[in-house]
Amino acid sequence: MRHDTPSTGARNSRFARRLFSGLPQRYDRLAEWLSLGQNSRWRRAMVDQIVPGKPRRVLDVATGPAGVALQLAARTDAQIVGIDVTEAMLREGRANVARAGADKRVQVVLGKGEQLPFADATFDALTFTYLLRYVEDPAATLRELARVVRPGGTIGNLEFLVPESRFWRFWWWGYTRLLLPLGGALTGGREWFAVGRFLGPNISAHYRRYPLSWTVQAWRDAGIDDVAVRSMSLGGGLVMWGSRTGG
Ligand SMILES: C[S@@+](CC[C@H](N)C(=O)[O-])C[C@H]1O[C@@H](n2cnc3c(N)ncnc32)[C@H](O)[C@@H]1O
Repeated sequence: MRHDTPSTGARNSRFARRLFSGLPQRYDRLAEWLSLGQNSRWRRAMVDQIVPGKPRRVLDVATGPAGVALQLAARTDAQIVGIDVTEAMLREGRANVARAGADKRVQVVLGKGEQLPFADATFDALTFTYLLRYVEDPAATLRELARVVRPGGTIGNLEFLVPESRFWRFWWWGYTRLLLPLGGALTGGREWFAVGRFLGPNISAHYRRYPLSWTVQAWRDAGIDDVAVRSMSLGGGLVMWGSRTGG
């Protein structure tokens, strides 16, 4: 298994921690507003793919304030582990879990998606949300995510996407380059302005380097079968899922 080098991997983790450290308190509310109410639809569509498998143990990677982990707890009987690289996000996650009375079902731990502190095939299912744009080597990270899922277990992902249609791409571009930074500043101040300004160019650059067709193949190469893709909200959101080879 390949692990990222301290220089590249550590740089990416530091960047993610810096970007996300100022966001936790109002993360869920602002993510909802700034995605024009789409984030919760996308999240639900991803969790829809996990529920029918009736998993007993689920790992949620890049769990942040634990919104996905809590939805998994509400819609399955599973024990959930949420893992994230940003301590400030996890503090908010722990508080949200306690507020929801889900401490016995949801545990959140510090760690990174590129090097998971779990044995092979530990989990019946895995979710990861908005992760691959923050790692140095998405293909290696996908292999690492697949490694901890038992054969036949479901893997689900939520990410932003660049609309395919020229028409919607034009509006998406205007929204991400102008309204998102402005809306971020007005609703969340300096930190959310920085995220709003960062996101659009970061999403575009990610897909220039790793187009969706590349990503689908990388899932297969990581040992994930039956890879399915659902583009949502005029092409601005992406839900992907598949099952760990060998089930
Ligand atoms: C946009 S937030 C999403 C939080 C949560 N999944 C949600 O949808 O509400 C992205 C999260 O990814 C985390 N993250 C970034 N790089 C990571 C990595 N390499 N390993 C684990 N978590 C990472 C950040 O700390 C942040 O909490």
